[in-house]
Parts: sequence; structure tokens; C-alpha cells
Amino acid sequence: MAQPQMQPGGHCRPEPGGTLHDRPVRAPDAAGRDAAQPHRRLPHVPVQLRAGRDADRVAPAHLHARAIGGAGLVIAEATGVSPEARITPADLGLWSDAHIPGHARLTAAIAAAGSVPGIQIAHAGRKASSSPPWVGGVAGDDQHGWEPLAPSAVAFPGLRMPRAMTEADIAQVIADFVATARRSVAAGYRFIEIHAAHGYLLHQFLSPLSNQRNDGWGGDFAGRTRLTREVVAAVRAAIPEEMPLAIRFSHTDWTEGGWTTEETVELSRR
Ligand SMILES: Cc1cc2nc3c(=O)[nH]c(=O)nc-3n(C[C@H](O)[C@H](O)[C@H](O)COP(=O)(O)O)c2cc1C
Repeated sequence: MAQPQMQPGGHCRPEPGGTLHDRPVRAPDAAGRDAAQPHRRLPHVPVQLRAGRDADRVAPAHLHARAIGGAGLVIAEATGVSPEARITPADLGLWSDAHIPGHARLTAAIAAAGSVPGIQIAHAGRKASSSPPWVGGVAGDDQHGWEPLAPSAVAFPGLRMPRAMTEADIAQVIADFVATARRSVAAGYRFIEIHAAHGYLLHQFLSPLSNQRNDGWGGDFAGRTRLTREVVAAVRAAIPEEMPLAIRFSHTDWTEGGWTTEETVELSRR
């Protein structure tokens, strides 16, 4: 099959019959930092949803397969920075040092296949305590569920009512992102992406639809973006200088009164 053609701006369409994971991409903007090499392909591997709380159950086959297949950089799926940060009780996590050996086996396998191991670190906020897709619905307290955290006590339609976060909760979330980033480095990951998209916690703070706070963590652009900016700054300071750090945004809520493309552009400049 002919190789997909790189488009102006670095975007690339797959050949007919190919998948979006067949598209080559340019190196991350952090070009020059070591994880940008090699960068033949960059699949974003979706939530694997079967890892659970047990570090020994980190199941690397889906990630290892991408590395063997020639991906230059393999990014492990949204990984919880705390137990309550998981989308479902079955999600991958790295909130404890006990999880490091399982992740280290995964990064070693990816590296041995010639690829760079990366990880996406995440907090689901009010979308937490959902059930895995093969169960459906929400995870109740009797199904290993928990009360989700959110900027405001506003539920995502169909999901559990969250508790509005206190200042102490916010400080803990920043500390959890930092600790998970440090553990990622210890486990052998060479690229970190912060998940600020898809309606998860950082996105919930960005969007006026879910952030109805009137303290310093909500309200105007500066308030709603403060948690994302503080998480990025704290993680950046905690990991090696040469290690690339990325962030994933949903650039618009595509809804009246929501987070906008213009705000994503403005935040990206900060
Ligand atoms: C089952 C499933 C799991 C996903 N897991 C993640 C994830 O862990 N992290 C993430 O940023 N996006 C995740 N996504 C979103 C995908 O990365 C992607 O943005 C989405 O499927 C749209 O794909 P496209 O941009 O190639 O059209 C997931 C999507 C699906 C369907």
C-alpha cells in the first residue's frame, strides 16, 4: 500500500482503506527533546479499561503491539492520578508507588521494540465512577464506585452527582498530577501528556458550563484556566528538563455559552 502523503501543516490523510492510526505525523513541537526520536508514527492508544486497581494487572499487549508494529511513540491511555480520578473502576492508574513495577514492565517492552513509551495522565472529575463499557451506566457504591469530584455540583447528564471541590481538593489534585508524573519518569516513560480534553476534570474547570465557581478557580478566563495552568507548571517543574510535556484540549464545547476555540488558542499561548 502506498504511504499516506503528508499534507501542508503536518496533517496527513490515510490512504483509502487505511485507518487514522496509519497516518504519519510530525514530531511533537518539543522537537529536539529526546522522545521526539524516532517518530515514524504516533498512535494514541485508547483507554484500555481492564487494568483495575491491581498493579500486576497492567495488561500491555495492546500497547506492545503498536510498538512492534513500528510506532515511534506509544502513549498509554488516560491513566488515573488518584483512585477517584479514574473514569471507571477498571481503569489504568499510577497513583501509588506499588504501580511502578507494572508500568516499568510495559515501558521496557515498548522500548525493547524500538519505540518511545509515553503516558497520558488524567482526572475524570464528574465523569468518574462510570461503569466499564461492557457493563454500562454508572458504578454505584456497591459496584466499587465513588462520589465524583468536580468544579461545581453539576452532574454530567446520566452520570453521578459530583461534589464541588474545596480548595484542599484542588491542591490535592495538583499534587496528584505531580506525583503521577514523577512516577511516570521512574517507570521509564519518556513523554507525558496531560489530559485536559473530552469533558474530564481540567476541561470541566475550563468550561463555564461545568465551572460555576465564583472563587479564584472559576468565573473569568483567568479563573477557569488557573487549574490547568497550575497543573502544567507544577508537572513541568517536576520532570526532567529534556522530557517533552504535551497537553490535550477539546478546542471547543461546540455549545452556546461553552469553552471556545478562541479561548483554547489564548490558553495555548500562556
Ligand atoms: C474506546 C475509546 C477510548 C478512548 N480513550 C482515550 C484516551 O484514553 N485518551 C484520549 O485522549 N482519547 C481517548 N479516546 C478518544 C480518541 O483518542 C479520539 O480522539 C477519538 O476516538 C476520535 O478519533 P479521531 O480524532 O481519530 O477521529 C478514546 C476513544 C474511544 C472510542
